[in-house]
Formats: sequence, C-alpha cells, structure tokens
Amino acid sequence: MSNLEHEINRRRTFAIISHPDAGKTTLTEKFLLYGGAIQMAGAVKGKKNSRHAVSDWMEIEKQRGISVTSSVLQFEYNNCCINILDTPGHQDFSEDTYRTLMAADSAIMVIDGSRGIEPQTRKLFKVCAMRHIPIFTFVNKMDREAKSPFDLIEELETEFGIGTYPVNWPIGSGDRFKGVYDRSEKHILAFDNSGRGRSIAEKVEVELEDTAALDALIGEELRQQLVDDIELLDGASYEFDLDMVHNGSLTPVFFGSALTNFGVEPFLKNYLEMSPTPLARKAGDTIIDPVKTDFSAFVFKIQANMNKAHRDRIAFMRICSGKFEKEMNVYHVQRDKSMKLSQPQQMMASDREVIDEAYAGDIIGVFDPGIFNIGDTVCANGLQIKYDSIPTFAPEHFALVIQKDTLKRKQFVKGVTQIAQEGAIQIYQEPFSGVEKVYVGVVGVLQFEVLEHRLKSEYNVEVIRESLPYQFVRWIGNENFDPKSVRMSSDAKILQDFKGNFLMLFASSWTIKGIQDRNKDLILLEYKEN
Ligand code: G4P
Repeated sequence: MSNLEHEINRRRTFAIISHPDAGKTTLTEKFLLYGGAIQMAGAVKGKKNSRHAVSDWMEIEKQRGISVTSSVLQFEYNNCCINILDTPGHQDFSEDTYRTLMAADSAIMVIDGSRGIEPQTRKLFKVCAMRHIPIFTFVNKMDREAKSPFDLIEELETEFGIGTYPVNWPIGSGDRFKGVYDRSEKHILAFDNSGRGRSIAEKVEVELEDTAALDALIGEELRQQLVDDIELLDGASYEFDLDMVHNGSLTPVFFGSALTNFGVEPFLKNYLEMSPTPLARKAGDTIIDPVKTDFSAFVFKIQANMNKAHRDRIAFMRICSGKFEKEMNVYHVQRDKSMKLSQPQQMMASDREVIDEAYAGDIIGVFDPGIFNIGDTVCANGLQIKYDSIPTFAPEHFALVIQKDTLKRKQFVKGVTQIAQEGAIQIYQEPFSGVEKVYVGVVGVLQFEVLEHRLKSEYNVEVIRESLPYQFVRWIGNENFDPKSVRMSSDAKILQDFKGNFLMLFASSWTIKGIQDRNKDLILLEYKEN
C-alpha cells in the first residue's frame, strides 16, 4: 500500500447530528479526550456563562451561549485520523448544518434515551438519508430513566424507514442502569456510577446461561429481562450487514451515557471498524476515486470575519481525492484559474494551525479574498473535475430588509451579499429590479438576528426588518421563464435570487397547490442545485 493510500484509508470524516440537548457536545468532548486532543473536560462545552465552547467563534455565540457555526475538529485515535464536523445544535441554524453534512462520509446520530427522536433529529436525518451515508446511533443518557429500548429502535425503524442493529443492549436505565450487554463479544460492560460523574466501566465476561453469576451482577429481575430481550432481539431483529450499514439502510445502535463516559470508547472503536474510509464522490457522470485521483476538493462553507482583528474570510474545503501540499498550484474550476491556496489551515476549532499537507477526507480552511462560492471545485492542475453542486435548502422565514441610513447603501449591499455568499441567509430581489429592496430568506428566525448583528458590527449598517407572511419557497424549473406568464394569487410572490434564478414565495401549502392548479406547466422545485 502506498503512503498516500495508507493516509487516506486511515481517515474518517463524520458529522454529529442531534436535537439540542441530546448530548452532542458532551460526546464530542469525550471523543476528543480519547484522542488526547483536549486535556480537560469542559473545554468544548460553551453553554453557560464563563466556559466558551472551543467552537464558538462569533460574538453573538458567546452572548447567547449557542454555537452558530460549524467547526471542524481533528484528532488521532488508534492510528486513525478522525475529522469531526461539529454542527450547530440550535434548531435555528440548520442551513449551515445541512451543508456540513455534504462534507461528511458518515453521521453519528445522538438520541436522548428518555426522549427518543426529536424534530431536529428528523430534519437532519432526512439530509443524511438523501445522501445514503452511514448513520451510527448513540442512545445517550442511559443513566437517566429512558424509554424502553425496544420502543426506541422501533421508533427509528418506523419513523426513518431504516433497519437497526443494536450492537449492545442496555440493562435497565436511570437508577437501575447496570450497564450494557455486548451482543457480539458476549460480555457485559458493567456501569458503576459511584465515582459521581465518572463511571467505572468494568468488562465482565458472562454466559447468558450462567444465571447465578448474572444474578450476582445485575439482580434477578434485570437478568431475566436481559435474557428475554436478547432472545427476542436475536430472533427478530436485523442481522448485521456491513453493506447495509454503508449504504445507510441499517444503523448500528449503541446505548451509553456520554456524561459519565460510559460506552463511549467501545462506540468509538466499533465506529472506526464499521465506518467507511473517505468516499468516492460524484462529479457529473464520473465517480472520483479518492486514492487514484490527484488532489481535488469542494467548498462547502464560507465564513467571514472569524477573527475580527483580521477581517478575514475563510473557505472550508473538503478534500475528496489525493493529497494537498502547501505550496501547490491548484486549478479553481468555476473561475477557470490556476492559483495558490493561501494560508491553508486546519482547525482545532478557533485555534488554527497552518498545515503542510492534508489528504482526502480532511477539511482545510483557506484564506478567501472573495473568490470562492459554496460548491466550487479546486483540483490539481490538469484535472477536469467539477463536483456536483450542493443543494440549497429551502428557507422557511422571510423578511424585507431595509437599511436605516440611505447613504450606507454600498456597505449594506456588500454586507448582505457577503453574508448570503456564506450561505447563512438567502437574498432575493424583485424581478429585474437590481438590489432596490432586499428580501431575505432564512431557515431559522434566529438567523435574522445574526444578520442584523453582523451588519451592524461588521459593516456598520443598521437595518429595519419587516417580516413577510410567506412560509415556503419554490424555485422555478421552467427554462426561459417569463414572470408575467404566471396566473398569480395575492398570497404568493415572484422574486429572483442573486444568481438570477426565479423563485416564488407562498403563504401556505394551499397557495402552492392553488398556483400549481392554475398553472399546469409551471415547474416548482423544492430545492435548487446551485
Ligand atoms: P447538545 O450539545 O446536544 O446540546 O447537548 P450537551 O452535550 O450540551 O448536553 C446537554 C445536557 O445534557 C447537559 O446538561 C449535559 O451535561 C447533559 N448530558 C449529556 N450527556 C448526558 C448523559 O449521558 N447523562 C446525563 N444524565 N446527562 C447528560 P446541562 O445541565 O444542560 O449542562 P451542564 O450544566 O451539565 O453543563
């Protein structure tokens, strides 16, 4: 195996998805501890007052105590090089999260054992399912009273339409939580939380038939339940099938407790064994092999002003093939230009490290003087690759944004355009009107506040926002579309996005139906390939 192949094959790049509060940050922190990437528990966490998440970048994040932007963390464990794409937990920041999922090869879904599937998990799962990437489920907080594990896996199967394979099985929960039974290794990982907060996980080899030993370990009632559960599982559940895991139709399920560090290491080990190496990617009709093709990458995220002192803008790229070296010349496909990527960096959240080399699977951030767009491809000179574009997800909230001081028109337009280029918001205008009035669409309403805050602090522009009564956006798929040809209704509006694509806003799903009924030839698309 060549060194290149070895380096690529030891990489794993995943995103963690969950509903806020399920324990994503806690689990990430434990992963990093295993990798020795952070020394102290609590360093990732930024929820409350003084402790700031290492992934908190912007001022507003600190003020609100939430993580607005996704960060990328890299660490080494068991000879694997792991890239975690941390995604914002707050439900209002889903657009960024969606795009981050485009850069991941697999996802870890954290579920709160007492709550089961929650709305945000549902939304994020949909995006993963769209890409058929493997999903690993960690049912967290088993040290608290949890739902029946059978109910939980049934929920996953019926709601998500995927198979489940519990790799381990919980023995009780809450005060009666005794640990998990590892189905393939056939041992119990016993849970002892007497150390308050730091659990002791003791591996005990047992035969389920060894009644006396089991009774002594977990008590008669739980022993009986475990034996019954395992019999039921072995008889009725899916067989383990790695191909199904890899095409996203079977999710391995693990039970544990991130806070007490119980079940995290076995989860990580199993994950590394079962998860795919950097995936081949589609570029039109070609599938790009990560090892056999020279360097190529696509931009999945752009973030301006990460460091206020530098007024910089960083384009995050997912390397899809080959090796990147610091001084190399690359070809920016969309601009048809050869260039050097300046200041290539890898992120340990807000700590940046300039790197000399990186491989397929890795994420690099490069200084962007305003030339990159989300979805752009860069590759080694001589290659002709254009990665499939990243879909734009549909905003659900819309407003008209007007600057207070008309003299600040230029800064205003620059600000909204740059923030839109980052993909945090979408901006639209009246057809053929130029940027007279700026309509803004966002996935979550908090994004409006982020926009106002950033316009003020970074561009020195104050704005007035008028909410609009629309809830849905559809892009128009007809070629040579003429806005005047549509038979409209009063609760819909035709606009253009800043690339000139036509779209319509609708007040309700009934409006969409009404317009569609009246305009049979109109093609309405839920999301737009850029
Ligand atoms: P998130 O990133 O998904 O939003 O969740 P986060 O890790 O911040 O966890 C949310 C809350 O759940 C935190 O409590 C955290 O300590 C707790 N938690 C995480 N994993 C477990 C677990 O396995 N068992 C139990 N019992 N609790 C868990 P908090 O009170 O909001 O914050 P803090 O005061 O503990 O920092």
